[in-house]
Amino acid sequence: MKKLSIMALSALVAVGSIAGYTVAQQKINDKDLLNQAKNYFQPLPKEIPAPSDNPTTKEKVQLGKMLYYDPRLSLSGVISCNTCHNLATYGVDGVETSLGHKFQTGGKNAPTVLNAGFHIAQFWDGRAKTLEDQAKGPVLNPVEMSMPDPNLVIERLKTIEGYVAEFKKAFPNEKDPVNYDNVAKAIAAFERTLVTPSRFDEFLKGNTKALTQKEKEGLKLFMEKGCASCHNGVAIGGTMFQKFGVVKPYPYQDTNDLGRYNVTKNEADKYVYKVPSLRNVTRTYPYFHDGKVWDIREAVKIMGETQLGITLTDDEIDKIVAFLDSTTGKIPEDALKMPVLPPSSPKTPKPRI
Ligand code: HEM
Ligand code: HEM
Repeated sequence: MKKLSIMALSALVAVGSIAGYTVAQQKINDKDLLNQAKNYFQPLPKEIPAPSDNPTTKEKVQLGKMLYYDPRLSLSGVISCNTCHNLATYGVDGVETSLGHKFQTGGKNAPTVLNAGFHIAQFWDGRAKTLEDQAKGPVLNPVEMSMPDPNLVIERLKTIEGYVAEFKKAFPNEKDPVNYDNVAKAIAAFERTLVTPSRFDEFLKGNTKALTQKEKEGLKLFMEKGCASCHNGVAIGGTMFQKFGVVKPYPYQDTNDLGRYNVTKNEADKYVYKVPSLRNVTRTYPYFHDGKVWDIREAVKIMGETQLGITLTDDEIDKIVAFLDSTTGKIPEDALKMPVLPPSSPKTPKPRI
């Protein structure tokens, strides 16, 4: 017993065996690393906080999940939110730019819906303030789900008995609960459950063994090289807008894509985009607003050059990628369980293309 405690003591004060020294040294570094990390990041809460005018309830989440998976929200009847934000592939479609109505493509890569409610705003240029605002867009967007107007969406839903019952449950005090605002509210409530706790969260909560040595070195580099000055907060991003090409232009930049300038008309916002969340990023290829980069290693290299003016070595890139991979989290099982959708009726407006 006495022998053991002396050994432990000698390990802590870093005298005695070489092995003891390494262990003691490592402990101190881990603590420092954790404290440094806490300055930049926070662990994920269970759910994304909801606004006061749309509190999250079980009934809303259930309805929102049905709508999220329902292709009848699109004119063709074949495209759902999950087509482009496939929860089985970490909330993305895995193509440069999504295929929407009649196989049309828009100019942007589809970001993941996982953890999206933590962002200061939605879309690469931040043109939607909230998840509720955002959800109204794709249904009516001609290259996405292409519904001509909200009335057709509501007509489809009102002729599906099962949906009328679900809307009543989700919005119990409303006279006419099947309306477009409530479609968006229910989808947003579902999206607020899409949080993906990972080993990195365990680390942030104090379990310094949750990350491997390589991941810890990557985390250290991520903070010390300057990545975390932009990619920070609970989502490791999503807290600010920044120019893509602070030091050097992005090599694939389409000069007609003006980014946030389209929203603000402010010269300084040309080529400015929302700094994306990097949670699950090793699973959400291809990268950047145009989806032009498929390899996470290349994306990291480009970031070093364009944003920080540094050339990262292969070894540094390896470690940073290992750290990023430690943020790959668990997609909530409930969200992944596909809902059985209520059937259409003879009155339900037919799909069109
Ligand atoms: C962006 C949700 C349908 C393609 C987004 C974002 C969210 C979202 C939350 C912003 C994420 C962020 O900024 O980090 C939804 C929901 C849908 C839906 C709830 C169903 C109502 C679709 C469909 C497509 C699509 C069907 C493909 C045809 C995209 C693209 C963007 C985007 C390309 C980025 C556009 C830009 O930033 O300009 N979506 N989405 N989405 N979504 Fe969807
Ligand atoms: C995008 C990593 C530094 C701002 C990205 C992406 C990755 C990444 C992997 C692509 C994410 C995706 O498409 O889903 C890193 C690393 C950095 C770093 C490892 C350090 C070496 C920075 C800094 C800033 C910044 C310092 C701000 C000055 C942005 C912006 C985007 C982005 C604005 C979106 C660009 C676009 O597609 O339009 N980052 N980043 N990053 N990062 Fe960084």
